[in-house]
Amino acid sequence: MGIIKLNHPLVNHKLTILRDKNTGTKEFREIIGELSTILCYEAMKDATLEKKEIETPVCKTVGEKLDEDKYAFIPILRAGTGMLDGLIRVMPNAKIGHIGMYRNEETLKPTKYYYKTPKDLAEREVIVLDPMLATGGSGIDAITMLKEDGAKKIKFLCIIAAPEGLKKMQEIHPDVDIYTTSIDEKLNENGYIVPGLGDAGDRIFGTK
Ligand code: PRP
Ligand code: URA
Repeated sequence: MGIIKLNHPLVNHKLTILRDKNTGTKEFREIIGELSTILCYEAMKDATLEKKEIETPVCKTVGEKLDEDKYAFIPILRAGTGMLDGLIRVMPNAKIGHIGMYRNEETLKPTKYYYKTPKDLAEREVIVLDPMLATGGSGIDAITMLKEDGAKKIKFLCIIAAPEGLKKMQEIHPDVDIYTTSIDEKLNENGYIVPGLGDAGDRIFGTK
């Protein structure tokens, strides 16, 4: 565990569409959602299930059931909200929190502007969502806040990660597993991931 990078032909195909600067807002948003669902399945691989008796049209049987209520999804605003639909599509009863952060374009340091999470974080598995892990600053600070609030079991889901951000996240939060569909080459001088996909928030919301 530690860093879990998905490797699947369909994921790689979708990533290529996502990276393409000619891909429009609608398709971009849809693919962010699809990849987030796949990341969710992967992140739930170690989930604990309870037995549940049910009756099929044919006979009684015992199935397995997930307690969705024990999970909290925490998107980092703005771009993380683009991933949320993909997760609640498959786990509609999970609780949802929001952390608002933006990077200062010059210093690249994150600034918090909003924080609201479900109660009892210590009792839940907390899944943090942000499509881009670049310098790692936003994800690291968000996780620090969640830990200060009691969260003990945390996973981080992103679409694209830079090696620099992965290294820093592992140094500061070694207990947090990171799930990603791609580990890219590097950061450029402006803190953008190369080759990346550009500004995820602007592409999801069509703001540029
Ligand atoms: C982007 C992205 C991450 C952050 C990653 O957000 O969604 O939150 O940058 O960079 P880092 O790893 O270097 O911190 P941005 O600050 O552009 O805000 P936005 O989502 O509102 O566009
Ligand atoms: N945030 C983005 O949206 N894209 C990057 O490449 C880096 C940070």
